Amino acid sequence: MQLAKRIEPLTKNVFADMDRAKAQAQGEGREIIDLSLGSSDLPAPDCAIAAIQTALTDPHTHGYTLFHSTQAFRQAAAQWYEQKYGIPVDPETEVLPLIGCQEGTAHLPLAVLNPGDIALLLDPGYPSHAGGIHLAGGQIYTLPLRAENHFLPDLSAIPAPVLAQSRLMVLSYPHNPTTAIAPLSFFQAAVAFCQQHNIVLVHDFPYADLVFSGTPAAPSLLQADPEKTVSLELFTFSKSYNMGGFRIAYAIGNAKLIGALRQVKAVVDFNQYRGIMQGAIAALQSDPTIVQHTVNTFQNRRDVFIQALKDIGWDVPTPPATMYIWAQLPAPWRERSIEFCCELVAKTGVAVSPGAGFGKMGEGYVRFALVHEPDVLKTAVARMAEFLGQF
Ligand SMILES: Cc1ncc(COP(=O)(O)O)c(C=O)c1O
Repeated sequence: MQLAKRIEPLTKNVFADMDRAKAQAQGEGREIIDLSLGSSDLPAPDCAIAAIQTALTDPHTHGYTLFHSTQAFRQAAAQWYEQKYGIPVDPETEVLPLIGCQEGTAHLPLAVLNPGDIALLLDPGYPSHAGGIHLAGGQIYTLPLRAENHFLPDLSAIPAPVLAQSRLMVLSYPHNPTTAIAPLSFFQAAVAFCQQHNIVLVHDFPYADLVFSGTPAAPSLLQADPEKTVSLELFTFSKSYNMGGFRIAYAIGNAKLIGALRQVKAVVDFNQYRGIMQGAIAALQSDPTIVQHTVNTFQNRRDVFIQALKDIGWDVPTPPATMYIWAQLPAPWRERSIEFCCELVAKTGVAVSPGAGFGKMGEGYVRFALVHEPDVLKTAVARMAEFLGQF
């Protein structure tokens, strides 16, 4: 049997190695504390669950959801965006429901790239961004993110021959895994750059709401491109509303890009189940204190975890946003993040993500996802202290 060459790059996945190490530790009887996945342990909003429950018993929601029947969802997303960011959005031409940001970012390259075209991706970055480029037959040029540059890319360092072939740039701030926020001035520079070089600019924006007190709100890309000349932005219910398993998100932006992505998706899917869309509308229209409660919960966990790390002599910067801690490894482990994570889970049951899994520039770091209660987080740090003490 022949399999397509395009899936070869998808099989090299550090996280699969980690999953095996986790399964082995579990098989050997270790109690696992899993801080490796950004999958929230908090519940979806009651209003969303209630709307989905109501929909389930209504046979009108049981059929295919084609374009027009998602009008209510598109309108709710447009209204939400207008209220939050003050930029008008046409629900008919500038909004598209997605089955997760991951689905959107993975399918978009099929609508934008011809084989061999270059996509500019952040390193470290979210792994499925690269996966979508591989599926579309594109080439990847990575933009290194360094702590000394606040984990923002230096666009002026992209060589001219690379730029000439570049058709797509994917940004994502607040950033997974580094937790950095990009200021509006950075987005303004990125929009001008993409306009000048005829590049489509995509902003994967799952952590739009997960910004902690004392930090200014995370800007939307469209605030830097209110005419939506080159830009598309992706929002999800997975983080703000703890609805990762429901697989619902949306894109807002340039009408031509929305139309092109819709065309790709028309071949692939018939949209999310209408009941879930109704739950998502209820979430978007819910009392903002619901999202604030989630933000406060992650902020409290962040503070507990950072303090616990400090107490064992591991000083890491306090993240301004997201649900992660991005920590540089202690000196003996600097170039061995995968080995660190595999040994840590084998010896202590604590599972964390190796920085190298997010790209070459992630080596030397690990990412902790704050998806457990404070007591469990403290236990994880205590186990790590014992582990680190052995070296
Ligand atoms: C940058 C980024 N994009 C996309 C996703 C996945 O979002 P969704 O659940 O909407 O597919 C995540 C989840 O962790 C993420 O961090």
